[in-house]
Amino acid sequence: MPNVVVVGLQWGDEGKGKIIDFLTQKADVVVRFQGGNNAGHTIVVDGQKYILHLIPSGILHPDKVCVIGNGVVVDPAVLLKEITELQAKGVKLSPKRFLLSEKAHVIMPYHKAIDLAREAKKGKGKIGTTGRGIGPCYEDKATRTGFRMIELLDKEHFLEKLKQKVEEKNFYLTQYLGAEGVSFEAIAETYLKYAEFLRPYIKNVARFLWEAKEAKKNILFEGAQGTQLDIDHGTYPYVTSSNTVASSVCSGAGFPITAITSVVGVCKAYTTRVGGGPFPTELSDEIGQHLQQKGGEFGSTTGRPRRCGWLDLVVVREAVRLNGVRKLAITKLDVLSGIKELKICVGYECNGEKIDFLPASIKDIEKCNPIYETFAGWDGELAGKTELPSEAQRYLEFISDFVGVPVALISTGPGREEIICAEEVF
Ligand code: GDP
Ligand code: IMO
Ligand code: MG
Repeated sequence: MPNVVVVGLQWGDEGKGKIIDFLTQKADVVVRFQGGNNAGHTIVVDGQKYILHLIPSGILHPDKVCVIGNGVVVDPAVLLKEITELQAKGVKLSPKRFLLSEKAHVIMPYHKAIDLAREAKKGKGKIGTTGRGIGPCYEDKATRTGFRMIELLDKEHFLEKLKQKVEEKNFYLTQYLGAEGVSFEAIAETYLKYAEFLRPYIKNVARFLWEAKEAKKNILFEGAQGTQLDIDHGTYPYVTSSNTVASSVCSGAGFPITAITSVVGVCKAYTTRVGGGPFPTELSDEIGQHLQQKGGEFGSTTGRPRRCGWLDLVVVREAVRLNGVRKLAITKLDVLSGIKELKICVGYECNGEKIDFLPASIKDIEKCNPIYETFAGWDGELAGKTELPSEAQRYLEFISDFVGVPVALISTGPGREEIICAEEVF
């Protein structure tokens, strides 16, 4: 009966995959509703690491159904690889328990080529995208010239439309971006093969979810990226190309807003960001390096080092409000163990004024100097502990009081069991 949305409250990589894997125990269906394979969600079970880019992080629970909604942009090559790799690892993945929306948009080779060539052309001012073609695919969706999954299954239509698309995109790639064009024949051959592989999974997902809701199943929605990467609410233009906030479940999965019962916000105990863009609490000193090393802060998708800094509660509180978060999941608290003094940002000084929100202008954000509260640190490893040191409890209480919602889950390590459940979510 409960239908719960899980979203990231920072700049992505908060540990959503781990939290989804934990919550899937009580769910029947797990759904991705936006983003694409720019996401990298890590789950560690019995010491084995799984990084999922498209398939929901509930897939390691054998009896649960996993669904990709219409709001996701899907690279068929990546999906095919993910399905076959999971099957090779013994994960039972059949059309009975994995569904792909017929309305999801398809990432084409020219989307990736354009993404990469645009970034190269921008040089220093680049966004630092994942290079997976996400922006250009959403762009075609918005201009009503993209391919939906269902169109891949209609060979004649697909080839006719592809011809026009390749002509248009090759003009842009070669004449404007100075990059190489793509081959119609090569795309036609590979994509028609992908279509046959994916055909059994391609379904009417909104209808499936409606029926699951009517049957009183528990549905879990898995956000990708984070609130500060939302195309409307994030640090634009240093954002991704989809709405990452919880409400996009409605458009991205075809799920009714009135049926959503709760929203869980995932917040890392400090802050990280991968790619370009402003980051007021970024640390370029040895503490930043310590967080990067101890936290293993290297991108799950691109392997790029993640920028690290103190927890910014201005950013998190804004995300709690935008998403309507009811409960928090705090992750990676263990990474802070051993740091003598911890800081949390509670406001900024910007243009000589004290403010308690992130300005809309990038130039203004760059002028924001964080105002910090200082906290005593703690020693000793937290992984597997059920009782936290008083200093760690104080740190969590401050977060909860500042943003106005309780902490339900505390993750103390990457493994499935390394979690404290203070309050039930389902
Ligand atoms: P996501 O994109 O939000 O799912 O997060 P990622 O998987 O990209 O990044 C989170 C990283 O932190 C992964 O390597 C996880 O295995 C790891 N992780 C998650 N929770 C914890 C935790 O509580 N402690 C530690 N040390 N690592 C964690
Ligand atoms: P998960 O789901 C962290 C960032 C990129 C770049 C910007 C735009 O694992 O939390 P894009 O390829 O989307 O056009 O890149 O967004 N980005 C992420 N950062 N975690 C992610 O996903 C991200 N997905 C995109 O680094 O700054
Ligand atoms: Mg990630």
